[in-house]
Amino acid sequence: MPDLTAYIDGQISRFQKELCDFLRIPSISTNPSHAGEVRKCAEWVASHLHAAGIEKSEVIETDGHPIVLGEHRISEDAPTVLVYGHYDVQPSEPDDLWTSPPFEPTVRDGRLFARGSVDDKGQVHMHLKAIEARLASNVDMPVNLKLVIEGEEEVGSKHLGAFLDKNAERLACDAVLISDTGMFSPDLPCITTGLRGIVYTEINVYGPASDLHSGSYGGAVVNPANALATILDGLKDDRGQATVPGYYDSVRPMTERERADLIRLPMDEETLRETVGAVALGGEEGFSALERMWYRPTLDVNGLLSGFTDEGSKTVLPSQAMAKVSMRLVPDQDPDQVVEAFEKRVHELAPEGVTVEVKRFHGGAPWVADTTHPIFDAASKALERGFGAPPAFIREGGSIPIVQVFEVVFDAPALLIGFALPGSNMHAPNEWLDLSVYRKGIEALANLYGGLAAGL
Ligand code: BES
Ligand code: ZN
Repeated sequence: MPDLTAYIDGQISRFQKELCDFLRIPSISTNPSHAGEVRKCAEWVASHLHAAGIEKSEVIETDGHPIVLGEHRISEDAPTVLVYGHYDVQPSEPDDLWTSPPFEPTVRDGRLFARGSVDDKGQVHMHLKAIEARLASNVDMPVNLKLVIEGEEEVGSKHLGAFLDKNAERLACDAVLISDTGMFSPDLPCITTGLRGIVYTEINVYGPASDLHSGSYGGAVVNPANALATILDGLKDDRGQATVPGYYDSVRPMTERERADLIRLPMDEETLRETVGAVALGGEEGFSALERMWYRPTLDVNGLLSGFTDEGSKTVLPSQAMAKVSMRLVPDQDPDQVVEAFEKRVHELAPEGVTVEVKRFHGGAPWVADTTHPIFDAASKALERGFGAPPAFIREGGSIPIVQVFEVVFDAPALLIGFALPGSNMHAPNEWLDLSVYRKGIEALANLYGGLAAGL
């Protein structure tokens, strides 16, 4: 049997070709017209689990998109690691801003461009190839494996929680391993120890029964677009804080240790400003950018719609206005409490003369790891071997709502090792995966299993 490094080197170009096949399937979970592609993608994952040497793989139906389950048993005495990831992707729009089409994977300057290349198909594929390499090489696999690759992460993991509950015994494990987060630089591996939660809403403001001539009626009828602007403006104060009553009451303050970890990170706000291409950074007064992104909750408009938005002009008083508003939450905020208070606040802010409705979409609790579990030390050592530098412990501002559920259902720690570099355009045009990180990450993950077995 070949040595692990030799095996990966010998297969890496096939791995990349295979990843491109995976990326060509437009598995956009939010759009019902893509349901067929999402299913095709689930089948692709199941057949490639099998091809990677995993004994059993299955596509499991839900009331939404299917879940792919893999199982590989080594021995009754070995610990069990559950690998979680998602094969669904965000929509690619606006397509005209992509340099190469979103579902035609293209390599430029060592980067693989495609929707899902880094969030999360590329990272899922790294796990499949790490497992394949470990099973095919001369180092033994010291853990039992279970894999849960879902198709609804980007729409709030609607059906996964119930599936985990129902199959808690079958899926029992000692640790959950997840790659759906980022890293600071190609040479600095990262373990993510906290994620924000989320509450996602839609505000609809209804005015006159139909659009009106803005000259004939303007001034005498309350304009729902103006009313919506009033509401949105009222939701934040001039120090950048949300005005939802009680919003900050249960925000857990940073510990000294967390503050010390944060300060040590190679973080430069000017580089961040350049990466995002904004004229200046901004946010809640009195906090650094990393604090604002990782340790503080937000309230953001994600979309706005009203009136005439085509080229040119049209003098119209719109009959309705809509905004998508989400809040990122931090420990120990409670999504249900927050959304209640938010809805009340929106109604309070609504001017007379319009009707306001708030719809609630998905939500998820924030999560923070207990880094005293020995798995963190074991993983750090393994990553240091793979990347030549010890990993930084970071938090992330994004959300993976199921992480917290995993920990509760299985009473097992979640270990988040991510490979998305800063600026890799998750959810945006020109999403990319760094191919050197892909190669190094596969080897590091393959080696990690030895360390995990020691830490469990
Ligand atoms: N991979 C992301 C989570 C993420 C984003 C981690 C940024 C670290 C940094 C994941 O696929 C995602 O986008 N999650 C959604 C969840 C939501 C739809 C419930 C998110 O954060 O918007
Ligand atoms: Zn995502």
